[in-house]
Amino acid sequence: MTEIPFIQIKKSLLNEIPSNLINRLPQKWEKIGDILTIVLPSIFNENKKIIGEKYAEILNCKTVLNDIGGIKGEFRVPNVELIYGSKNTETVHKENGVKYKLDPQKLMFSSGNMDERIRMANISNGNETVVDLFAGIGYFTLPIAIYSKPKKIIACEKNQIAFNYLSENIILNDVSSIVEPRMGDNREIAPKNFANRVIMGYIEENERFLSAAFDCLIEHCGIIHYHNTFPNHAVPNKPMKTVEEEANKKGCKAELLGYYNVKSYAPGINHYVFDLRIDEK
Ligand SMILES: C[S@@+](CC[C@H](N)C(=O)[O-])C[C@H]1O[C@@H](n2cnc3c(N)ncnc32)[C@H](O)[C@@H]1O
Repeated sequence: MTEIPFIQIKKSLLNEIPSNLINRLPQKWEKIGDILTIVLPSIFNENKKIIGEKYAEILNCKTVLNDIGGIKGEFRVPNVELIYGSKNTETVHKENGVKYKLDPQKLMFSSGNMDERIRMANISNGNETVVDLFAGIGYFTLPIAIYSKPKKIIACEKNQIAFNYLSENIILNDVSSIVEPRMGDNREIAPKNFANRVIMGYIEENERFLSAAFDCLIEHCGIIHYHNTFPNHAVPNKPMKTVEEEANKKGCKAELLGYYNVKSYAPGINHYVFDLRIDEK
């Protein structure tokens, strides 16, 4: 019987690191294509390279990154250092039949959002037009385009690096006939009065973008998938109050179709997505 990878990793490092540290090695990792990311406690600072080498060997990866500070800033950029392997960290990650080309040293790919990417895949249909306000490398745009095949998706992205991968991924997944990438701030470049469905896949004070999302909808009617982080005790009433205020300003009404807990974000705070139906009053 083959041993589980973590046992193999521990055995391979027995003679390489102090024995009292063996049980502190990371038991979890993220594998994006052939790039591995681990969170290595600072007690391993002296042994980073050999640890990276063994993880790479056993988990069959070309590069190992150490996550030193989560995901930060407007562009949600990961704070990682390369501890072992090829400096070319570009890779193609395959999930649910979708090819995502990216560089995990420069851009995030959250495995915690996988269920939501899969849920989005079949959410639309051939009669709809869709706007993805925070497209990134195509996290939601690509599965929607491949599986739901809407009439058109306009995918907005502000970060040049992510935009370049988005453009490449549209070709790689053969969906150029229905996906139009647009580069810039979605509040300036998103189409108005165009969509039946709007995806707001962002969690940095995303209420700031509700107004733009409403304006994408045809005559302010349609569906919005509104992501954000909320204190668990406030869900769903407080976020709905914000949404209803915005709807009022636009002269329409908002109905909560359902909400989902995407992943935990901080103690007492989770990342949620609210499915909203926006309609005339
Ligand atoms: C990284 S994605 C979020 C994660 C994604 N929902 C998932 O499933 O993993 C968010 C993207 O929104 C982009 N972004 C942030 N502000 C923006 C804006 N005002 N207009 C357009 N894109 C923006 C960021 O550059 C980033 O690529």
